Amino acid sequence: MSVVYDKSKEISLDDESFRSELLNIASKIDDVIPLGRGDPDFHTPIHIVEAAKKALDENKHHYTPPTGLPELRNAISKNFKNKYNLNYNENEIIVTAGVQESISLAMLSLLNEDDEVLITSPRFTTYDLTVRMCKAKPVPIPTYEENNFALMPHIIENQINKKTKIIVLVSPNNPTGAVTPPENIKKIAEIAIKYDLIVIADEIYADLIYENHEHLSIGSLENMKERTLTLNGFSKTYAMTGWRIGYIAGPKDIVSKMTEVRHALSINSCTFSQYGALAALEGPQDAVLKMKDEYDLRRKFCMKALDDIGFTYGDPGGAFYIYTNVSNSGLSASLFCKNLLEKTGVLLFPGTLFGDTEDKYIRLSYLQPIDKIEESMKRIKSFVKL
Ligand SMILES: Cc1ncc(COP(=O)(O)O)c(C=O)c1O
Repeated sequence: MSVVYDKSKEISLDDESFRSELLNIASKIDDVIPLGRGDPDFHTPIHIVEAAKKALDENKHHYTPPTGLPELRNAISKNFKNKYNLNYNENEIIVTAGVQESISLAMLSLLNEDDEVLITSPRFTTYDLTVRMCKAKPVPIPTYEENNFALMPHIIENQINKKTKIIVLVSPNNPTGAVTPPENIKKIAEIAIKYDLIVIADEIYADLIYENHEHLSIGSLENMKERTLTLNGFSKTYAMTGWRIGYIAGPKDIVSKMTEVRHALSINSCTFSQYGALAALEGPQDAVLKMKDEYDLRRKFCMKALDDIGFTYGDPGGAFYIYTNVSNSGLSASLFCKNLLEKTGVLLFPGTLFGDTEDKYIRLSYLQPIDKIEESMKRIKSFVKL
């Protein structure tokens, strides 16, 4: 695996060891409030669990086609149509073991050595690792607090050269929670067409959009479907992180290529998880709306508390993260996280774990019940006042 950690890396092993250091400190504290992870604190809605149990009881214990159960692909296809007016047929969809696997499948199927991949940044660093596995080069597209961490088309265009092959567009983004507005998405689509680039649209948080923010699925724009891979899944929307299930929709030839890779890697997604996913799409959506309302409540509570403390942040229009500028504390974000954890038991991660070169932001994920969130905000406030 020496390729993964070559010397051109932007995410260093030191960053990973800092994550471990924080987790190690946290493991020795009794009443830690973890606001670091991206895993919903809710359980998977019960009807989804029942559907998976039923599949097991009915002896659905065997391989499925590598692209996934036809009925699940059909439900995914309908979902694209209903939500984004996007027409994907079953041959243009592959069910995966989560968006994590989707990222690897896409990169392994598309990249050649020395290709360049533009990635929304700060970022979900799996993108860096998978691009490097292919001996290609990840190129961060920085986003800034002054733009609420939205992707800015001119910044993308400035990074394009002859080697650029893919733009990875993550909206809402992890770790910033930023929703790139539709007018920017339209301009990014124009750029992709102008330079003949493929777009990987990671829409894993697209069902978690708040207030007046709007999600535009780039593949739904004119002349974009043929150059877009849309990645989505069940982990975040349905609190199904442990089920390992997601999907990619894209042009048939790329899907065929990815199907070969997927067969070599894992043959198919877990069969009973696929039945659970089918129930998630076809069943009632009220549990999703309830979780979303609860996230929104926590989000607003945190924003108000951060305002009171005097910390700024980019407008968190989606996902369940607030990317918070802790410069006012007088500490670097890394030191802020370490000292805060040691003194108060609140666990947060610095933006440097997400490829941020400026050590002044932390990612706050509001994935704890509201009473814990209230308590964590009190602790942060008292820490800042020390
Ligand atoms: C932007 C982004 N993409 C992909 C993933 C992986 O999700 P999954 O659980 O579907 O593999 C995550 C998980 O945090 C994420 O934040």
